[in-house]
Amino acid sequence: MLNLETSRLVLRPWQDRDRVPFAAINADEEVRRYYYPRLLTSAETDELIDDANERLSRDGFGFLAVERKADGALIGGAGLSRPGAEVPGDFPLEIGWILGRAYWRQGYATEISRCCLDFAWRRLGAECVIGYTSEINLPSRQAMEKIGMSRVERADFDDVTVPPGNILRPHVLYRIDRPAL
Ligand SMILES: CC(C)(COP(=O)(O)OP(=O)(O)OC[C@H]1O[C@@H](n2cnc3c(N)ncnc32)[C@H](O)[C@@H]1OP(=O)(O)O)[C@@H](O)C(=O)NCCC(=O)NCCS
Repeated sequence: MLNLETSRLVLRPWQDRDRVPFAAINADEEVRRYYYPRLLTSAETDELIDDANERLSRDGFGFLAVERKADGALIGGAGLSRPGAEVPGDFPLEIGWILGRAYWRQGYATEISRCCLDFAWRRLGAECVIGYTSEINLPSRQAMEKIGMSRVERADFDDVTVPPGNILRPHVLYRIDRPAL
């Protein structure tokens, strides 16, 4: 199954030992500040992990566990997925990350993204990759801009899985096109 490597990290399928640390990340109010529903139970994290592994074996790509080489710590999850039905347009691939608070602002999302985008261009032959987040998630928007994504004009959308009136419902869409390789 898929394993990707960067200078500091390994991106790999989920293992049972990831369940407890990833549940802790998904139960942190700061990490989940821009998500709906806000916090996940351990059972919900387990479902997410099982679903991610199923998609990885079916599709050959997906949402991966991110382990730090230096100490084996699970720092979070990230990868390429198929956008949900709530996302407008006909885009085949999205990139996303969710990292534990202790690992923020150390360039990990940038490092992960470079590796995943390289995989998308070279191994999947993708023409473009999108990213999206709630309009108010400025860290995520800036992280997308840092890796060269641009906001798609007139592509804002409401995430219909978030109730009307909730501040997390309005979403913005970013994209990056395959560079000349
Ligand atoms: C968004 C997230 C993945 C960024 O990860 P990260 O490893 O800290 O990002 P990087 O260190 O690679 O930083 C990349 C850029 O993102 C921006 N950024 C990251 N965190 C930020 C913050 N808290 N506030 C403002 N900008 C931020 C900066 O522009 C940064 O570049 P710089 O450090 O040179 O200024 C991380 O904050 C996270 O997991 N948040 C919770 C989950 C989440 O919201 N995921 C996205 C859902 S779509």
